[in-house]
Amino acid sequence: MVNITDEQWVNWIDALADDDYVIIDDFIPQALFERISQFFREKREQDDLKKAAIGSGAQTQVKKDLRGDFIYWLDQKEDVELQDLYELLEDLKSALNRYCFLSLSGFETHLALYPEGTYYVRHLDQFNNRNNRMISFIIYLNEEWQEGNGGELAVFKEDREILISPIARRCVMFRSDTLEHEVKLTHVPRMSITGWMLYQPPIVGQILT
Ligand code: OGA
Ligand code: MN
Repeated sequence: MVNITDEQWVNWIDALADDDYVIIDDFIPQALFERISQFFREKREQDDLKKAAIGSGAQTQVKKDLRGDFIYWLDQKEDVELQDLYELLEDLKSALNRYCFLSLSGFETHLALYPEGTYYVRHLDQFNNRNNRMISFIIYLNEEWQEGNGGELAVFKEDREILISPIARRCVMFRSDTLEHEVKLTHVPRMSITGWMLYQPPIVGQILT
């Protein structure tokens, strides 16, 4: 159970609306961080993280030169250990609907591991054949992150590049359709929960013409 006041939601969502992105430190409590980290370790040990692809439906491609992360899609019915995370994301969805006048219907989210030596080139989070991602969110899981480790999230605003370190329990949210971003080359394994608030339910295996 994570309790966030209305005032906090309003402050964060105002910042998101004004700047197209927001950085929230200590977004998840230590107990939830530990639970997610434990779950992440198990999934790694079971070899459940798979090379991520680019695109969706028939246009899906695995392109190692564009992104180097390994992912595991969370299934709310199967992965019940992370119930508190789903509740927090439901609260986020409600707050965005309430204070940003969005009509979000749900979210999709995955674990992401960038092994040492990987990155994700500059991109937007909407694909040509699928544009129901409204808000991107990333919760970082890297304890003892240090300067020089690389792996920063870079967001591009006007002519500026803003670097954000992927430190444990920090959340970054941004507009999926307009904010270009990239993951810098990481020199150590880099872990996160990455997801998207959607304005219609995702259609699994959808092939658009
Ligand atoms: C993505 C992405 C950013 C990050 O998965 O689409 O841009 O900081 N991730 O992990
Ligand atoms: Mn992205």
